[in-house]
Amino acid sequence: MNFQLTEEQEMLRKMVRDFAKNEVEPTAAERDEEERFDREIFDKMAQLGLTGIPWPEAYGGIESDFVSYVIAVEELSRVCASTGVTLSAHISLASWPIYKYGNEQQKKTFLTQLAQGEKLGAYALSEPGAGSDVASMKTTAKKDGEEYVLNGSKVWITNGGVGDIYVVFAKTDTDANHKGISAFIVEKGTPGFTFGKKEKKLGIRSSPTTELIFENCRIPAANLLGEEGEGFKIAMTTLDGGRNGIAAQALGIAQGALDASVAYAKEREQFGKPIARNQGISFKLADMATSVEAARLLTYQAAWLESEGKPYGKASAMAKLYAGDASMRVTIEAVQVFGGYGYTKDYPVERYMRDAKITQIYEGTNEIQRLVIGRMLTTE
Ligand code: CAA
Ligand code: FAD
Repeated sequence: MNFQLTEEQEMLRKMVRDFAKNEVEPTAAERDEEERFDREIFDKMAQLGLTGIPWPEAYGGIESDFVSYVIAVEELSRVCASTGVTLSAHISLASWPIYKYGNEQQKKTFLTQLAQGEKLGAYALSEPGAGSDVASMKTTAKKDGEEYVLNGSKVWITNGGVGDIYVVFAKTDTDANHKGISAFIVEKGTPGFTFGKKEKKLGIRSSPTTELIFENCRIPAANLLGEEGEGFKIAMTTLDGGRNGIAAQALGIAQGALDASVAYAKEREQFGKPIARNQGISFKLADMATSVEAARLLTYQAAWLESEGKPYGKASAMAKLYAGDASMRVTIEAVQVFGGYGYTKDYPVERYMRDAKITQIYEGTNEIQRLVIGRMLTTE
């Protein structure tokens, strides 16, 4: 067993850490306050090759691996969880299904544009009445000659509005439950495709979360991803890996909160000594650090399994479940370590705490992760 990162992975970590510190952290609080997405940050990530980390050079990627990918999401989330999820949704949710299920033409066109960061990706599965229960979705896609006609709406879409390429799930057969779902590539600007409400959120406020509306939206039949009826499988297998991106986001948030807490506990004095010298605080820091390490091991392991071509769905669900819960615990404790100052916007820990909550909710709530893991344990 080897827990050592490769030289390439270490170099990527250093590059992303420097980028995050210099280009992302300085505006993180301000973008959070203003609920402002900054496309320039995404464009700079593209220049560094981050938007195509795991994809082959033939499709515009840098042909690295999934461990490097989770390291990038972790390092970005360490300073700004919104930027972390922008990249995570772009790579694991929008690009992955095109890489895995797209035909050569779709990969050459759409995957290349995504990998090079020329276009920003999004993944549209959830609907007002179909969150955890994906199969109950109502959006339809009706074949009409060489086109499909989409009708319905999607909610909560990360990178919604600012994204250019959307992987959208809709029912081509409304009588076939999950077997009637198909996946499509829909480009921004297609007539009949508009954006609705932009959510006002507790956390990840500089990551836009937006409603998508389809009204007789005609897309080329060539934009069907995979086969008709294969959409549920495409959605689930995409989430198998996507969940590990969220584990990495949760890990980064927790690491950021831990770093800030350790520094503050060493510096803040009460009763004539640094608060870190109280066992009540140092035990808290010890528990926080242990949770962060455990989250990292689960996350890296799931990414490694994916890179090795081994089954990773259960490992990824476990990583997301553990890292999400750990991130929430750690960030709550971080605010406690900072006392009253932690409750203000003078320090980043209140933002970390608000951001951590979403990692227990999206890409399948942590109750759903338990359901997924439980089913795998009892059916494998
Ligand atoms: N891989 C391959 N096939 C799978 C699969 C997987 N991971 N999971 C299920 N399937 C297959 C099953 O084997 C079954 O196959 P058959 O048709 O042969 O029977 C079929 O799919 C139906 O499976 P289930 O009976 O398990 O389906 P279900 O309706 O009970 O739902 C669920 C299962 C796991 C709860 C699923 O609905 C789910 O994952 N819900 C959560 C939704 C979610 O995570 N949404 C995230 C949206 S994206 C997001 O949030 C973005 C962001 O964070 C940025
Ligand atoms: P519900 O499914 O209504 O669940 C409500 C509660 O009931 C939860 O606690 C849940 O765990 C519990 N519950 C439901 N079913 C069960 C069960 N069987 N067993 C036990 N407990 C259960 N979706 C996308 O498609 N693309 C995106 O890019 C995207 N980004 C998002 C970004 C944000 C900021 C948010 C908030 C959501 C995003 N989502 C996205 C949607 C997200 O995946 C859903 O919110 C999530 O899957 C839960 O669905 P729901 O909100 O409808 O909750």
